[in-house]
Amino acid sequence: MDALSVVFMLAFSSAASALDNGLMRTPPMGWLAWERYRCNIDCKTDPKNCISERLFRDMADRLAEDGWRDLGYVYLNVDDCWSSMLRDSEGRLQPDPQRFPSGIPALAGYLHARGLRLGIYADLGNLTCGGYPGTTLDKVETDARTFAEWGVDMLKLDGCYSNETEQAKGYPLMSRALNATGRPIGYSCSWPAYQGGLPPKINYTELGQICNLWRNFDDIEDSWDSVLGILDWFMDNQDELQPAAGPGRWNDPDMLLVGDFGLSLDQSRSQMALWSVLAAPLFMSNDLRTLSPEAREILQNKLAIAINQDPLGVQGRRVLKLKSGIQVFLRPLSHSASSLVFLSRRTDMPFRYETSLRELNYTSGEYRAVDVFTGAIITGLTDDKNFTVIINPTGVVMWYVYPTMHHGRGEGRDPDPSLKYKPEDDSPTGNQWPDFL
Ligand SMILES: *[C@@H]1O[C@H](CO)[C@@H](O)[C@H](O)[C@H]1NC(C)=O
Ligand SMILES: *[C@@H]1O[C@H](CO)[C@@H](O)[C@H](O)[C@H]1NC(C)=O
Ligand SMILES: *[C@@H]1O[C@H](CO)[C@@H](O)[C@H](O)[C@H]1NC(C)=O
Ligand SMILES: *[C@@H]1O[C@H](CO)[C@@H](O)[C@H](O)[C@H]1NC(C)=O
Ligand SMILES: *[C@@H]1O[C@H](CO)[C@@H](O)[C@H](O)[C@H]1NC(C)=O
Ligand SMILES: *[C@@H]1O[C@H](CO)[C@@H](O)[C@H](O)[C@H]1NC(C)=O
Repeated sequence: MDALSVVFMLAFSSAASALDNGLMRTPPMGWLAWERYRCNIDCKTDPKNCISERLFRDMADRLAEDGWRDLGYVYLNVDDCWSSMLRDSEGRLQPDPQRFPSGIPALAGYLHARGLRLGIYADLGNLTCGGYPGTTLDKVETDARTFAEWGVDMLKLDGCYSNETEQAKGYPLMSRALNATGRPIGYSCSWPAYQGGLPPKINYTELGQICNLWRNFDDIEDSWDSVLGILDWFMDNQDELQPAAGPGRWNDPDMLLVGDFGLSLDQSRSQMALWSVLAAPLFMSNDLRTLSPEAREILQNKLAIAINQDPLGVQGRRVLKLKSGIQVFLRPLSHSASSLVFLSRRTDMPFRYETSLRELNYTSGEYRAVDVFTGAIITGLTDDKNFTVIINPTGVVMWYVYPTMHHGRGEGRDPDPSLKYKPEDDSPTGNQWPDFL
């Protein structure tokens, strides 16, 4: 069996169904405040960067005016520290009156007028991680109704200050409460991250029926070490995690750091490439007002985004982990295409990695590749012909690969028909390449 079939088989073996709210059939994209802005509430000394309606309106303007929204970055997500320290007289959450004087419905309106969607943050437990009022079990329905009335489009429900039993009750309860509001609200659950992220403690079949996305592991920090720590945990556990993902249900390795301080340009491309083949939600956490052209080019790379947003929604896998420090990742895509990411963990010099598509278990035939970051087109790739990619230290080479000659059935290319995947019928228009080619 070839590599694509193996990834498909693993992806569909659980035949999992997703939360039935019609949302996030491809990984959600947008901007989330936490990694860059944390719990900065000092608007006196830092008015431009504190958690306030000004920050979110600034970012909304940038998302709408600088091309982000049109590429799919539509969610603008508030994180912790937005609320008042007290609920209102009717027990409802309310925003901090100094920092959000116009209120949340006004912010939602501002975003909706610009074709954007508002995400908000709450915490299942006594307190949020930052010490603000939590959503205890008795408050779940109130908070769901409040968010729906405000026009919120997505909720991240964190899990500080609650125990295992409360989480097992509260996360499904919030899912039902959101549904009962009648407003489609994307639902991000931090539940697995508080319970070790792995079966048997986490039942990913069940989780996918409750949540649209979930944080499985540690918070990301602004460093390459943090990216690698998260990547390694996800890959070492890919047999458990990869089949959990699919349309409407996504693993979330946390935010993109591109445009911040901790990653070099090569490392920034690496994170964008890896998050794209892993079908990860793409939430930036940076300052869109001062973003460098280089960071923008990486985050706005149309082919990387198209790979991330591929409608089949199959999460990629690490298929090779070599002693040389080279790792290869593969994601099957619609139209019989696939994406390969060659990552170098080396720290010496650009590495010449020689391989062939056959070595990567592609079946016979002729392929073409597009280098995602240079735009170079590599023609005449046959499965048995060696090629060499030159990979910078801590960098990647990322390819979009597609067959140039039709591979008929019976050649071992198509996955088993019982896997519900037929390369010829996954699009009403047949075998047409996406318009970025
Ligand atoms: C609520 O759930 C039902 C049944 O799963 C589904 O048909 C409906 O679209 C959901 N509504 C919302 C707002 O999520
Ligand atoms: C939440 O608060 C209750 C009541 O004060 C307390 O008994 C419980 O231990 C707290 N739970 C956590 C996880 O902090
Ligand atoms: C979890 O907290 C609740 C109180 O909110 C308590 O009744 C229960 O015993 C706790 N469970 C565990 C496993 O600690
Ligand atoms: C996981 O949840 C699904 C759906 O609720 C259920 O059918 C299955 O039996 C559960 N698996 C385990 C190992 O508990
Ligand atoms: C192709 O590359 C492999 C290493 O992947 C090497 O062992 C083999 O000798 C190469 N073949 C040719 C014809 O260069
Ligand atoms: C290719 O397939 C073989 C046999 O199934 C497997 O052992 C190997 O790990 C696969 N290699 C890749 C790169 O997928």
